Amino acid sequence: MTVRYWISSLRGKGAGPAGRVSRARAVRCFHESVPGYRKSPLVSLPGLAKQLGVQGIYVKDESGRFGLQAFKGLGGSYAMFRILCDRFGLDPETASLEDFRQPERQEALSRIHFVTCTDGNHGRGIAWAAGLFGCRAHVYMPYGTQAVRAENIRRAGPAEVSITDLSYDDTVAYASKRAAKEGWILIQDTAWEGYEEIPGWIVEGYLTLAAEAVEDLEALSLRPTHLFLQAGVGAMAGSVLSYMVDYYGENKPVTLIVEPVVADCHFRSAQAGDGQARSVEGAPVTIMAGLNCGTPCSLTWPVIRDYAEGYLSCDDPVAVAGMRAYAAGLEGDPKIISGESGAAPLGALLALMQEEALDEARKAFKLGPEAVILLINTEGATDPENYRKIVG
Ligand SMILES: Cc1ncc(COP(=O)(O)O)c(C=O)c1O
Repeated sequence: MTVRYWISSLRGKGAGPAGRVSRARAVRCFHESVPGYRKSPLVSLPGLAKQLGVQGIYVKDESGRFGLQAFKGLGGSYAMFRILCDRFGLDPETASLEDFRQPERQEALSRIHFVTCTDGNHGRGIAWAAGLFGCRAHVYMPYGTQAVRAENIRRAGPAEVSITDLSYDDTVAYASKRAAKEGWILIQDTAWEGYEEIPGWIVEGYLTLAAEAVEDLEALSLRPTHLFLQAGVGAMAGSVLSYMVDYYGENKPVTLIVEPVVADCHFRSAQAGDGQARSVEGAPVTIMAGLNCGTPCSLTWPVIRDYAEGYLSCDDPVAVAGMRAYAAGLEGDPKIISGESGAAPLGALLALMQEEALDEARKAFKLGPEAVILLINTEGATDPENYRKIVG
């Protein structure tokens, strides 16, 4: 496995995200009103921590969130809630899901169509959320998508799903065109100039997982010293990082952004050194489907740029190593089911702690015996056939 690292030279130049902790409270209030809401577990891996020579490894395990096998439903459901509050003139600070269940609203809701592009998990969250509110969804997926991922979306809720022959970025553009033509609402988990309000709500939706993780660490009297965040467009990473900056201030964890080498747009943006985001062109192929995105989200890139200490660009065997380590449960550690995009940060951590070629990086990021590391397992076995092939 190969991990390339980059130490950021762009840190500390931003004004700092403020008010994330209080936003998270409001967002969590909505999530708590959703049937099936349960705080996702924070799992300690003491056996692995001992083997790697660090104080602790804690995994926020999102693989069971809302029964969708990934964290993504947090963002999609909250954004849909905000859009529909606007439509029906409800105050999002006091409204809840119940307000949309009244028969006179259900009729109007059944005529509202959402559209999105996804490589799997976001679309599943949107289909499920459309079902919650009584709306409909249209979901487009890029070339190379496994049929099982499309099927999982159809099963999650009232969604029409198609696999295109376009790249992820081109499929986003296609979904956007369909929205304009059909009068559907585009609900995309990444932002660009002129399309920021809805993805902003999606980013806020992910705050719930950050707030829950911090609450559980506090209950153990722990402060994370290191945070590994996998990034596709970076919406989840930027959201979680903004919460950590707001909550811990100067004491925020050293944060490392993990990406597949073929789609490492944050790594390349940081390397470019001028603060501007860069895209990865072409048609990248990686088993880390959720991270296979070529352009950073315009809302979260500035947070990542200003507050992440480093970037780790990983080949597919890194994700494989992470999946196997999670599944193995070293020295009595609990076993965790983690898919390709969920496990990449653990694979990157294993490489950082064990590979001689990464000695300098380990020192630069201060990964020593005092380290309390927080990882987020963002998905379970969302591609079960590949999971079986890899983990056995
Ligand atoms: C399982 C999983 N992890 C991580 C991510 C990355 O999230 P983002 O695109 O917000 O960076 C995704 C995105 O789809 C995902 O599905």
